[in-house]
Amino acid sequence: MLVVKDLERTYPGEVPTRALRGVSFAVERGEFVAIMGRSGSGKSTLLHQLSLLDTPTGGSLRIQGDDVLALSDAAKTEYRLEHLGYIFQEYALIVELSAIENVILPAMAFGTASAAYEKRATELLEIVGLGDQLRHYPDELSGGEQQRVAIARALINEPDILFADEPAANLDTASAKVVLDLFKKLQTDMGQTIVMVTHEPDDRRYVDRVIRLEDGKIESIERDGGRL
Ligand SMILES: Nc1ncnc2c1ncn2[C@@H]1O[C@H](COP(=O)(O)OP(=O)(O)O)[C@@H](O)[C@H]1O
Ligand SMILES: [Mg+2]
Repeated sequence: MLVVKDLERTYPGEVPTRALRGVSFAVERGEFVAIMGRSGSGKSTLLHQLSLLDTPTGGSLRIQGDDVLALSDAAKTEYRLEHLGYIFQEYALIVELSAIENVILPAMAFGTASAAYEKRATELLEIVGLGDQLRHYPDELSGGEQQRVAIARALINEPDILFADEPAANLDTASAKVVLDLFKKLQTDMGQTIVMVTHEPDDRRYVDRVIRLEDGKIESIERDGGRL
């Protein structure tokens, strides 16, 4: 599904920051993978490279066999919209739009009949447990509910890979569990491939593998609690 080789990202500056120093691994279709490591170890930088939000300064990245780094900027934008889903720590909903309008928005770019999108968005909001709050605005929803709207929005175009950067970091324990349980359900029921950055050690019980970063390098890859 996703293969990275010798990935590097150096941020320029008076003293350049080598945030990623040669990272290689693969994610299989249907896998739920966590990227862990302490603050500053390069987790967000890695997620940004994998999800085409940034461009690596070295190495290669293939998604479903496609050399995605070779795409033009315009083609990359289109690829992201069509194939990738994003969930961030801050929910990034548009406050002037209702829950269902927020979910439909990324689908509008493809211009299919809006009735089909409305149906799909309703189904997705039901899946994330917000079937009764379709017309609520973000300021009428709790943090956990807003994040679930963001999850439904990330799914509207049926992404091949869902990327999440500390999706539960701003949530209380109960809401965080709802979000993580939901990710697990998406993997189990829909075969959704998920790559999630987290610093919460307990999250490892949800995932198939933990890729642990230290100083921009892979320190270890753990499967089912044991080191490979
Ligand atoms: N846009 C940027 N410009 C310069 N340095 C950056 C930028 N983003 C991150 N860094 C640096 O790269 C390193 C890794 O950061 P980051 O990927 O955000 O780590 P994490 O998500 O694990 O906390 C840190 O030293 C950070 O200061
Ligand atoms: Mg980060």
